[in-house]
Amino acid sequence: MKITVAKSAGFCFGVQRAVDLVTNAIETYQDKTIYTYGPIIHNETVVEDLKKKGVVIMEEGDDPSKYKKGIVIIRSHGVAKKVLETIRDSGHEIIDATCPFVSKIHRLADEHSGNGERILLLGDKDHPEIRGIIGWINGNRYDVIKTREEAEKYTADSTDKILLLSQTTFNLHKFEELVEILTQKGYDINALNTICNATEERQKEAARIAGEVDVMFVIGGRNSSNSQKLYEICKQSCSGTYFIQTKDDFDLSVLQPVHNVGITAGASTPVNIIEEVTKKCQR
Ligand code: F3S
Repeated sequence: MKITVAKSAGFCFGVQRAVDLVTNAIETYQDKTIYTYGPIIHNETVVEDLKKKGVVIMEEGDDPSKYKKGIVIIRSHGVAKKVLETIRDSGHEIIDATCPFVSKIHRLADEHSGNGERILLLGDKDHPEIRGIIGWINGNRYDVIKTREEAEKYTADSTDKILLLSQTTFNLHKFEELVEILTQKGYDINALNTICNATEERQKEAARIAGEVDVMFVIGGRNSSNSQKLYEICKQSCSGTYFIQTKDDFDLSVLQPVHNVGITAGASTPVNIIEEVTKKCQR
């Protein structure tokens, strides 16, 4: 059996950086409580491991002043400007692990909405990254859309100047499709593709491998949106695509009549989990 593991599978630059910042903080500030604002990544194994090392999760939306003063690490998805201020005002120190690709979107949303432009976000309105971006928009002239139907129904004032930005993990193909629908409406839209390079490469490679194999495994956390998108992309070219969290989530029987297996993984999947899945397939 041939097993192809995507080169782009696993931790992206932003997630690796966030995990490294937490690990360094544990070593550097042994006398202080280290918090992460929400789980640092969408991976239960990594989060549990950090908890054992003393890291405490500060629940999103909780009042930070309820927590003993310490160091709060902001995860790679980023947060609203107001959240940063509230944490700081409560006397905590902040280590900002917001991925630079996300920070760039915050700056764009802040500047352009400040200039009176309307912001149109392509993404999932309930995802923390989008919630964070919304928190950098000045005023409330913004919309979030995700589907073809929503793009078709979209309306704005004909005088609006619109800046379109995408969630960093948005599906590239869908981005192009929705931008096409929206620009045909004749609005003054400046569409910036803010899907990050890591996501774009990962999606392209996953689609290519899925087109060549009989069974495709996408490894990722249950709540990981970038992993779910990988699953959707792979499923389009390979009906035998499985979304799994660990090696224990599939039975070897699915590989019985199979010659070619592909493996990819979301941005928050540690390398050891990818290796374990690969090993199991080799049995
Ligand atoms: Fe950053 Fe892209 Fe990863 S935005 S956190 S490098 S998926």
